[in-house]
Amino acid sequence: MSSSEKKIALVTGASRGIGRATALALAGDGLKVLVHYGRSAVEAEAVVEAIRANGGEAEALGADLASEDGAKTLAEKVRTIVGSRLDVLVLNAGVSKAARIEDYTTADLETLYATNVRGPFFLVQQLLPLLGEGSSIVVVTSVVARGVVGKPALENPSILAYASTKGALETLVKNWAAILGPRGVRVNAVAPGIIDTDMSNFTKTEAGRETALSMQALKRIGKPDDVADVVTFLASEKARWITGASIPADGGSKL
Ligand SMILES: NC(=O)c1ccc[n+]([C@@H]2O[C@H](COP(=O)([O-])OP(=O)(O)OC[C@H]3O[C@@H](n4cnc5c(N)ncnc54)[C@H](OP(=O)(O)O)[C@@H]3O)[C@@H](O)[C@H]2O)c1
Repeated sequence: MSSSEKKIALVTGASRGIGRATALALAGDGLKVLVHYGRSAVEAEAVVEAIRANGGEAEALGADLASEDGAKTLAEKVRTIVGSRLDVLVLNAGVSKAARIEDYTTADLETLYATNVRGPFFLVQQLLPLLGEGSSIVVVTSVVARGVVGKPALENPSILAYASTKGALETLVKNWAAILGPRGVRVNAVAPGIIDTDMSNFTKTEAGRETALSMQALKRIGKPDDVADVVTFLASEKARWITGASIPADGGSKL
């Protein structure tokens, strides 16, 4: 396939974790991948190098999606590279926070909503001209959008604010799917359970591991690849009749 025929994907937060695995998987499927990062430029360049070493095409793009103009800045960089069309947009970048209800600050909520909801909202807005018939958007949400995890109690730290950002994203997925469907653009969510990344460091302790496994049907900790494979499926032509859906990739969590 010549370079100009290659489909192009943008994966946000592709420097680490689930985004990194997704960038590698999409490159393995033959797409050119734009590897977005916030702070981890060195890690993002390493992802680009890994893709190129396997004969693929990739470029790294930095932008702080929590900043007010972050989505616009990133969209401008994307347009410079891809021209008029983006085939796949994976909205993966996100941050989490655990605290007792009484300890949350307005700054915590601002960071969570700016990164997890406002960034994706305006990135879709800014990239709209590039998304056409056959383009696909995949949003990484979470099992916590629909169910309470952990041990809910006033004295325990909880990720309730983070969970609410993922609920907002799941609502956006349905609205985007309805609005963009007539244009031939599909929009779906992948809702991971607990996945072994920097975000879920607690799974590296025995107690954290036990808590995770106790809510799952399948008794191992999920890996970034377990999610990346579902994202690549939804982004592919094989999922051509799926839109507005949220597919769990959670080992049967909270069944
Ligand atoms: N791990 C889990 O158990 C789990 C479960 C369900 C859902 N998820 C979701 O999966 C997605 C990926 O999570 P992960 O576990 O792979 O997390 P991770 O390893 O902590 O990676 C997060 C990624 O998001 C990027 N990011 C964070 N804030 C950013 C900002 N302000 N601007 C630009 N990029 C930013 C980071 O980029 P830099 O490092 O370059 O700044 C990094 O690439 C998130 O949406 C998360 O909510 C994770």
